Amino acid sequence: MTSFHINGRPIATDVEEDTPLLWVIRDLIGLTGTKFGCGIGMCGACTVHVGGRPTRSCITPLRAVAGAEITTIEGLSPTGQHPLQKAWIDLQVPQCGYCQAGQLMQAASLLKDFPTPTDQDIDAVMTGNLCRCMTYVRIRKAIKQAAA
Ligand code: FES
Repeated sequence: MTSFHINGRPIATDVEEDTPLLWVIRDLIGLTGTKFGCGIGMCGACTVHVGGRPTRSCITPLRAVAGAEITTIEGLSPTGQHPLQKAWIDLQVPQCGYCQAGQLMQAASLLKDFPTPTDQDIDAVMTGNLCRCMTYVRIRKAIKQAAA
């Protein structure tokens, strides 16, 4: 049995401990905001926070999160009004939208470490979150707006 909290909700499951956290989040718990992109930790679409740190859920086995506090895009803000979410809407950041939950979770972590990030800070931290629609310029702008 593996126990953890997700968005403040206690979860206990006897799912195989090798199961990637991504599938537990999506298929067992039903939180489908977190996306599958590459499955090998390279694209960032599956980013969630584990213990407050950005984590690729596709390559994180369930056993690694025993006792952890996990936050998904659904739990980023109870009201959906996180400054990043507001900026994302104001600036119409998404195009197809598929990678954006991961982008937002990575950006939320960035703002904790760099409350007023420079372009270099943003590029360094966000570089592993890929967007096939190339919304990078709007993502950078929205992070700066949220930080202001
Ligand atoms: Fe996890 Fe791409 S799906 S990094």
